[in-house]
Amino acid sequence: MEKLTVGLLLLSVLSGSMSQTDMKGKAFIFPEESSTAYVSLIPKVSKSLQNFTLCLKAFTDLSRPYSIFSYNTRTKDNEILLFVETIGEYMFYVGNSGVIFKAPTNHFDPVHICVSWESDSGMAEFWLNGKPLGRKGLKKGYTVGGDAKIILGQEQDSYGGSFDAKQSFVGEMWDVSLWDHVVPLEKVSDNCNSSNLINWQALIHEENGYVVTKPKLWT
Ligand SMILES: *[C@@H]1O[C@H](CO)[C@@H](O)[C@H](O)[C@H]1NC(C)=O
Ligand SMILES: *[C@@H]1O[C@H](CO)[C@@H](O)[C@H](O)[C@H]1NC(C)=O
Repeated sequence: MEKLTVGLLLLSVLSGSMSQTDMKGKAFIFPEESSTAYVSLIPKVSKSLQNFTLCLKAFTDLSRPYSIFSYNTRTKDNEILLFVETIGEYMFYVGNSGVIFKAPTNHFDPVHICVSWESDSGMAEFWLNGKPLGRKGLKKGYTVGGDAKIILGQEQDSYGGSFDAKQSFVGEMWDVSLWDHVVPLEKVSDNCNSSNLINWQALIHEENGYVVTKPKLWT
């Protein structure tokens, strides 16, 4: 099954509908509010998840709600979702259930977000800029579906669509990493190249609408 998926993936990469890129040192810029600009990320392996870790860096000056990372399956809205409701309130969803992590943030600094989730205990652990914001529990015993659309820049209300400009991300995003296991977050720092599902240095993705890739502004 995995061989087949990898084969199909290779075919799509070769046929040019997707590209695999070393994004080291680069960022995606979402330059304006829209319901059409997004980046679709394709994991190296499509598999269901009992544990995962997601890390990314972002800069925005939005004060309205916006989506950071949207992972939907055909059957589940908000299967994994990182969403900012108001400044400093990070909503983290698994299987369409959410918890909030509150952070005192400086509005105009870029953020380094890392969150992990473990099915056995339901524990979600959230780190912001290298500091833990504590642990909360959700969806204990749940398994996240594998056949997903993973989207940066927009919040999905269906599988790969139903975007709302008023929830779109405007700003810059880089170093997006997804692991199929819980990574000790105190050790992540800048070593994101171990990520096995989404790897910034071998990023399989598809850009849609007004998205610009440029060298990142922040380290
Ligand atoms: C998920 O993590 C738990 C330990 O936290 C482990 O027992 C389990 O095997 C892991 N599941 C998978 C699919 O890796
Ligand atoms: C990062 O990982 C990718 C994919 O595994 C690999 O191609 C690349 O050489 C790695 N880069 C470094 C600096 O380790």
